[in-house]
Amino acid sequence: MEDVFSRKQIARSYGSSRWVRGYVGGKLALDPVFRVARRIIARRNRAVVDLGCGLGILGICLRTSGITLKYKGTDPEPWKINSAKQAMRYFGFEEVGYEVADALSTEIPQGATVCLFDVLHYLDKADQERMTTRLADAARSGSLILIRTALRSAGWRYWMTLLEEKWTRLSGWIRGGKINFPSREEITASFSRHGLNPQIIPLWGKTPFASHLIVISPPGEPVLRL
Ligand SMILES: C[S@@+](CC[C@H](N)C(=O)[O-])C[C@H]1O[C@@H](n2cnc3c(N)ncnc32)[C@H](O)[C@@H]1O
Repeated sequence: MEDVFSRKQIARSYGSSRWVRGYVGGKLALDPVFRVARRIIARRNRAVVDLGCGLGILGICLRTSGITLKYKGTDPEPWKINSAKQAMRYFGFEEVGYEVADALSTEIPQGATVCLFDVLHYLDKADQERMTTRLADAARSGSLILIRTALRSAGWRYWMTLLEEKWTRLSGWIRGGKINFPSREEITASFSRHGLNPQIIPLWGKTPFASHLIVISPPGEPVLRL
């Protein structure tokens, strides 16, 4: 799959804030999650729901590489959704849907490819449980679930992750939200109690963080080879 637009062009679509443009350019350069998700999404060829889409980078990445599958991205932060819409209009992709909404109340159509990238740790224990139950229900009715999260552990990558999260709160880049990373065992237990078997692989790319990709395939669909 080709990138029709360069990282610089995508970053430029986010408008006048150098900070936002730098953030988007940096994410695209260092973080493999968008490239990996794009490959899975294209191969599966189903509508995409991007919960906690932030600046909507995934949606823009899909469209700028020619993937025209139905896409809906939601996030509770209005300024991020407005930035996503600005990038969408810059390219003329009016059909890319962004909405202000919480991941816990965003509708998940049957059979979708559902993405939840770097969002789970914002939720407290009870909401994490509600979220994983919603995702397990979606998987059991035919959706493929892609979660990216850091996993709580004793390693240096986890400490770097915590440091970065603390910095985002202190700098005001992120307002509120928990810093509540699940462990590998908690993730496995959350899905296996619904009869699902999550695949968990490291996905930190050039970043120093403890990020992992968790894939929950719907029963009856061939398990993705990662
Ligand atoms: C680190 S950003 C990741 C954004 C995007 N998924 C990405 O990978 O570029 C985390 C996002 O989660 C959002 N978020 C926090 N709590 C949420 C919730 N309850 N429902 C949906 N999104 C939430 C934040 O507003 C923020 O945009």
